[in-house]
Amino acid sequence: MRIAMANDHAAAAMRSELVAFLKKGNHEVLDCGTDTPDPVDYPDTAEKAMEAMLDGRADRAILVCGTGLGMSYVGNKFPGMRCALCTDEYSARMAREHNDANVLALRARRMDIDQNLRIIDTFLNTRFPGEARHKKRIAKIAAIENRLKERK
Ligand code: RB5
Repeated sequence: MRIAMANDHAAAAMRSELVAFLKKGNHEVLDCGTDTPDPVDYPDTAEKAMEAMLDGRADRAILVCGTGLGMSYVGNKFPGMRCALCTDEYSARMAREHNDANVLALRARRMDIDQNLRIIDTFLNTRFPGEARHKKRIAKIAAIENRLKERK
């Protein structure tokens, strides 16, 4: 898969292992930074990764910050994007099976690297079975998005 990866300074120490894991799994990584511990605003790197998703240059995005929260807010601002903040494998599996999430937000702080690797693995390798009840609910998210667009 082509994966757009973005992080802020809080995840700078963890990111090289995440990128290496993705490459080892034969994924193509579109690296949107940052690779230094110098403070960077998470919306800036996240936006680059999300633009790649919108343009069709990436199949999935992985966004990592201290809590994963800020990144998830940004990920969910983009039309058609369902960004799931996952702190365990169960939420990663459900995000795919029930919500067809296409963007994964991760927490770097107070999180074991191996746990984040397992979450990534689960997220990337779980397919959306496409059950009608889940499709209907996802379509309702899109409908809300469209109604809000019309209000502008
Ligand atoms: C940076 O200190 C921190 O605020 C950021 O990484 C993230 O946790 C924001 O949601």
